[in-house]
Amino acid sequence: METWDALTARRQERAYADTPVDDADLRRVLEAGRRSPSARNLQRWDFVVITDPTAKADLARTWQGAGWTPGAPVVIAVVAPETDDEWQKLSIEYDLGQATTAITVAATDLGLASGQSSCRDQDLARSILGFPADHYCSKLVTLGHPAGRAVAPIRTPDRRPFDEVVHWSRW
Ligand SMILES: Cc1cc2nc3c(=O)[nH]c(=O)nc-3n(C[C@H](O)[C@H](O)[C@H](O)COP(=O)(O)O)c2cc1C
Repeated sequence: METWDALTARRQERAYADTPVDDADLRRVLEAGRRSPSARNLQRWDFVVITDPTAKADLARTWQGAGWTPGAPVVIAVVAPETDDEWQKLSIEYDLGQATTAITVAATDLGLASGQSSCRDQDLARSILGFPADHYCSKLVTLGHPAGRAVAPIRTPDRRPFDEVVHWSRW
């Protein structure tokens, strides 16, 4: 896909076909996350790849809005270091957002559907994924082939109008 098509075709998919994700595609998507920019190039992220149905089902119980995630053949848990510093917290979450965008756009480029969900219950997430006590799971990113609508550029996205969002020179 062209870059613009991938950007405009990416959308939140919550319904997946059983078809597995090709290993080379999965590695490429993860590589997109690894190459993302980050503050001072600190790269405060780790990606835990989950395909086991029981683990996916358990992970979905970490947050009420994650109930649909086990339907995806691949769930990527985006894990980062904990900090008490509010500024660093924001910085880490900003970087994770960039990595997630790279992952989901790279997936779209390959014709894969993707989605994202929060992850709240950290004790449960840690018991399933085994990440260290000083880390947390910020988001779950899903990957797979869509059950219904194919991945294709969206002509009329559900977004605020361009002229409301964009301010030229001054708000
Ligand atoms: C930081 C973030 C957290 C999100 N958390 C959830 C979630 O917990 N559950 C869910 O079903 N969707 C979640 N979403 C998906 C958004 O609802 C979705 O991206 C938004 O409605 C825009 O739709 P689109 O991605 O199709 O453009 C999340 C998205 C982001 C960026």
